[in-house]
Order: sequence, then C-alpha cells, then structure tokens
Amino acid sequence: MKPIQKDPNESDFYMQLAKQLAKPSGAEGIQIGLDMNTSNKSLFENTLVELNPESEQYILEIGPGNGKHVASMLLNKKHIHYVGLDISETMVQEAQKNLEQYSYISKALFRHYNGETIPCDNNFFDSIFTINTIYFWKKPKEFLDELARVLKPNGKLLLCFGLKEYLEKMPFTEYGFTLYSQTDLENLVAQSQFKIKHFKVLQDSITQRDGNTYTREYAIVELGKK
Ligand SMILES: C[S@@+](CC[C@H](N)C(=O)[O-])C[C@H]1O[C@@H](n2cnc3c(N)ncnc32)[C@H](O)[C@@H]1O
Repeated sequence: MKPIQKDPNESDFYMQLAKQLAKPSGAEGIQIGLDMNTSNKSLFENTLVELNPESEQYILEIGPGNGKHVASMLLNKKHIHYVGLDISETMVQEAQKNLEQYSYISKALFRHYNGETIPCDNNFFDSIFTINTIYFWKKPKEFLDELARVLKPNGKLLLCFGLKEYLEKMPFTEYGFTLYSQTDLENLVAQSQFKIKHFKVLQDSITQRDGNTYTREYAIVELGKK
C-alpha cells in the first residue's frame, strides 16, 4: 500500500486516511488504530457509562479496532463475556495480541467477519455497542436488522458517532463516509426493527491531522427493539 503522504493538504492524503479509518490495514492501519485509541477515548468512556454492564452479560462490539479499550472495560468485570467483530484482519490480529497481555481476561474474543452477517445465534447478546462505524455500513437498515436478530428482546444497542454537522467539516469524510444528523439517524431507525429510547449529544475537543483543534459533537444513542 502507498504510504500516507506527509502533506495534509493533498486530497490523496485524506482519501488514504478515509480508507484506513474505514478498514485499517498494514503498518499504516496499525498506527491509525493507535491514534484512534487516544482520539476516541472519551467516546468509549461515555459509551461505557451508558452500557453499564453490572450483571452476567454477553456483550458484542462492532468495529473495536485494535481493542485496547477492552482491557479497562473488563477490569474487575469477570461476569462479562465480550465479543468484538471487525472487518479488518489487521485490527483483529492487533486486538488478539493486545488481549494476550492481560491474564485476567478470559471471557473476551475478537473475530474477523464480513461486515454484514453476525456469525451468531438469534437473541444471543444482552447489549451491543459500536463507536465510529455507522459511517461505513454498506446497507444500514439491513445491518440494524441483523443486530436486532442477535440482540435479546430487552437488550440495548448503543450507537456512538460523530454528528454530520461536525464531521462534514473534516476533509476526509467526503471519501466514502455516510454522515448522519440526528434527523437522518431517526429516519434510519424508523425503518428498522429498533426504536430510539434515548438520544444524547455530547461535545469534546479534538486536534485533527490538519493541526487545528475542533469542538467535536457526537451522539450516543440507545436503541431497543420495537
Ligand atoms: C473509525 S474506526 C473506529 C474504531 C473504534 N471503534 C474507535 O472508535 O476508535 C472503524 C473500525 O470499524 C471497522 N468497521 C468498519 N465497518 C465495519 C462493519 N460493518 N462491521 C464491523 N467493523 C467495521 C473498521 O475496520 C475499523 O476497525
């Protein structure tokens, strides 16, 4: 793969960056994964607050990247069974390597899959969460319904994503990202087997690759089955 260009003003740079964010691969993908650990830390922490897994639970994460956050999530939570599914083989390999460093983690696994069909029985998971992946779903309504299939009847799905109003200012999102405003998301969910239970908008500050610091507006949306 061609290396990411040094000059962030080049459209090739942003195209390559967008491709790596959608599906990190090779050495560049590994670096992007590490960068996301820092830049998306607050999104993960705030999603975890909403997830609040107290009892024995089966939890699915869609698109965990290198999975570094999972160690902190599972610390002192021996009752949680965690599964992370990602379309990037590079990220799954990194996540498995990261996991091996933590001897206390016995109920977590990372798997590669095709991004459409969850390799799992119906009504299996108590909770599902996903951070910064909705932009890349090829068939969003069908994918939501696939998540509904593997979620227990009273289970919750948490979607965390940057809002369109913020992300459309980022030069990389014109390359293959589908962006959602609150209304876009509501329209999508209305077509699916889910209903919105809670829509929370949060803000933080993030320095992007162009060196500028932006106020990032993102949503954490709790969905339940209709
Ligand atoms: C922008 S990164 C976000 C990683 C991490 N969740 C975070 O917020 O830092 C997107 C990740 O989702 C994965 N991904 C993209 N589409 C996916 C899909 N349909 N199912 C599962 N993973 C997907 C990518 O391979 C990548 O690891």
